[in-house]
Amino acid sequence: MQAAIVTEPGGPEVFEIQELPDPVAGPEDVLVAVHATALNRADLLQRMGRYSGPKGTRDDLPGLEMSGIVESVGERVSSWAPGDRVMALLGGGGYGSKLAIHERMLMPVPPNIELVDAASIPEVFLTAYDAMFVQCELRMGESVLIHAAGSGVGTAAIQLAASQGCRIFGTAGSAEKLERAGALGLNVGINYHDEDFAEVVRERTDGAGVNVILDVIGAPYWEQNLAALALRGRMVIVGTMGGSKLEVNLGALMGKRARVHGTLLRARPLEEKATLTQEFVARVLPLFANESISPIVDRVFPVSEVSEAHRYMETNANFGKIVLRHEQ
Ligand SMILES: NC(=O)c1ccc[n+]([C@@H]2O[C@H](COP(=O)([O-])OP(=O)(O)OC[C@H]3O[C@@H](n4cnc5c(N)ncnc54)[C@H](OP(=O)(O)O)[C@@H]3O)[C@@H](O)[C@H]2O)c1
Repeated sequence: MQAAIVTEPGGPEVFEIQELPDPVAGPEDVLVAVHATALNRADLLQRMGRYSGPKGTRDDLPGLEMSGIVESVGERVSSWAPGDRVMALLGGGGYGSKLAIHERMLMPVPPNIELVDAASIPEVFLTAYDAMFVQCELRMGESVLIHAAGSGVGTAAIQLAASQGCRIFGTAGSAEKLERAGALGLNVGINYHDEDFAEVVRERTDGAGVNVILDVIGAPYWEQNLAALALRGRMVIVGTMGGSKLEVNLGALMGKRARVHGTLLRARPLEEKATLTQEFVARVLPLFANESISPIVDRVFPVSEVSEAHRYMETNANFGKIVLRHEQ
């Protein structure tokens, strides 16, 4: 198979397209011809040598999600057959054109979704679904604050929260991103360059605050997040793009009687990821099929242009996902 390999830790230029042996599928595995993968922020860290994948993955072969066509199945596989259109969350390896994956990790691609777009679904939609609905128990009619509203995770989270009738606040760094997020269901857009989001949230909720916060910025937002959170609110830290170390006033957390969650999908064991995947298939895939929600793809690059794709993500210009298409 062909793969975009990180030849040494460094900048976007370190990628090289190499020929690797095809993966070997075990009895419960499915061999997939990967059509596309999508970039995630974690890929940038992995490329720089700052984020290793779980056991069984290669540090020089990133890729946390994929869409593709089933090529063959192991002898104990019961749910899939050659030719099926599938997508999945991965521990790594999406930058390779083939992979072997446990059958319970696969999801069917809804018929109305192009295979290339499906590659952008698993990581951000599973992350946003798990963070808001499983961990923070966001309920219909509640309010939620979503940071980096134009990011892959943000655009997925907004659509999922809108599909449940939630009131959605969101932050982003440009008016254009906020306007596009508005079209996805964002009710109150806040440009963090111009406004203090905690003040806006308090003002627009008559001082009550939001029930749930999905945070990807981390340390610099901690205090403002607590100020924006309602009594008995729930907050989930999904990323730390702004930094991860801070001195905390625990009194403010206690005063809010708040719950704080931290989450990482990649490090979870297969059983946990498979359970989440199956729940997502039952509860969320129908929303794609009836077009209540959809994958938001900013740009598609051929795998041969993986370095350009990484450079593009580093500019923070993308709204939604950046996809890498394998040449079959
Ligand atoms: N825990 C998990 O399992 C999990 C899974 C998936 C993703 N994540 C995390 O979720 C986050 C988003 O990932 P993604 O792939 O969706 O990102 P993305 O599509 O690359 O979008 C990131 C956006 O965040 C904003 N941003 C970046 N640094 C910022 C900062 N310091 N302060 C404020 N805004 C900043 C920028 O938009 P603006 O123009 O608005 O500034 C940027 O375009 C990352 O931290 C990633 O690691 C975690």
